[in-house]
Amino acid sequence: MAAEHADELTRPDAAWDPAAPEVQADYPAALARLREEAPVAWSDRWGGFFTLTRYADVVAASRDPETFTATKMTVIPSSPRKGLPRLPLQKDPPESDRYRKALNASFKLNKIRTFEAPLREMASKLMDDLLAKGGPVEIATGLVEPFTQGSLGILVGLDPEEAMEVGRLSHAYVEKVQGEDLPGAGELSRQVDGFAERLVADRVARLRDPETDIVSSLMAHDAAFTHEELAGMVRLMLIGGHVVPRNFLCSIAWHLATHPDHAAGLKDGSLAQGPFIEELLRFYPANQALVRVATRDTEIGGTPIPKGTPVALNFLSANRDANVFDDPETFIPDRSPNRHIAFGIGPHMCLGLALAKLQAQAIIDTLLTAPRLEMIGRPTFARWTEYGVTKLTLDLSA
Ligand code: HEM
Repeated sequence: MAAEHADELTRPDAAWDPAAPEVQADYPAALARLREEAPVAWSDRWGGFFTLTRYADVVAASRDPETFTATKMTVIPSSPRKGLPRLPLQKDPPESDRYRKALNASFKLNKIRTFEAPLREMASKLMDDLLAKGGPVEIATGLVEPFTQGSLGILVGLDPEEAMEVGRLSHAYVEKVQGEDLPGAGELSRQVDGFAERLVADRVARLRDPETDIVSSLMAHDAAFTHEELAGMVRLMLIGGHVVPRNFLCSIAWHLATHPDHAAGLKDGSLAQGPFIEELLRFYPANQALVRVATRDTEIGGTPIPKGTPVALNFLSANRDANVFDDPETFIPDRSPNRHIAFGIGPHMCLGLALAKLQAQAIIDTLLTAPRLEMIGRPTFARWTEYGVTKLTLDLSA
């Protein structure tokens, strides 16, 4: 028997294809079907992988790095693991804890709170420029991308020209990934690596204030980090801190423009912003799914998972599981409790969550100052493994 045939015989039936146009057109509908019919769903795409769609399964696998490791791959389709490691994401505990402990100083709440004034100022300046322009404006390039880049610049401690360079590279990288140009994305990924390496070399040669410069802060925490480890931590932040928040903030703009009652409620104070942002995160988790690999033969809910198989943790699906959320397909502005896992859960739970929430507050408040929020045309939507809106045009003028 041919080897491929034997492989086919042992493969489960494909329950879905995340790259099929009808799935891309409505991920929540496709995932709702899977939660009912095939909660541990096989796909033949990209070499074959399982997707966990139920909240309980996603949480359990996220919390079990001994069975589901992040060291083999974390996204699917995966680019070959060349270049810098993405740290701490591509390590399991206890190794990943060493990086997270060192990064905590830069991400902790009272540190992030000091960014509030500059972030709000940046958002309102960008909004002033858009309003001065008048007419329909593209929100991703005109507001959200310069804002997330500026935020990253403050977080990492970039000089203005460094921030511009990162902005250019991240934008080009995202375009290649969304256009499914994998060789192009690989080339840009190498350029981002190069940037991170140069940044680390510069800071190591001339240490800066650890309060405002992340590499200097990491060095102060653990002087034993190698240059590669330092650059690997910076590298993860440069892309992770750009693409995902970009999509989330564009989804917010889209939501407000298409739900004028919600915009009005936030403006007059009848809707509280805190629970509203949590519901936005539940409804539009910009990281739809991340991946682990089974370290041994195992099973979930009766479905055998052979050792070495990639398993996607689908946060979007988990956030709409009726076993955890009442009326899960409805956006409930004051939903409480709201145990969404848009930031993941377990040893790799998002380090940037306080920053992401602060960004959301600043962007919502800024958008609500516009005389009008009117959708022009249709937005562009992100594709697997992302979720949400990537581009939209709004008329903000009076
Ligand atoms: C709405 C915005 C954001 C969402 C939805 C989000 C989501 C996530 C998720 C789901 C993970 C878990 C990864 C996993 O389990 O494999 C993660 C990890 C991470 N996020 Fe975010 N993120 C956001 C914003 C940010 C920002 C602004 C930063 C800042 C640079 C950031 C930095 C990180 C880092 C460094 C990790 C890796 C943590 C680790 O591996 O231990 N994120 N994020």
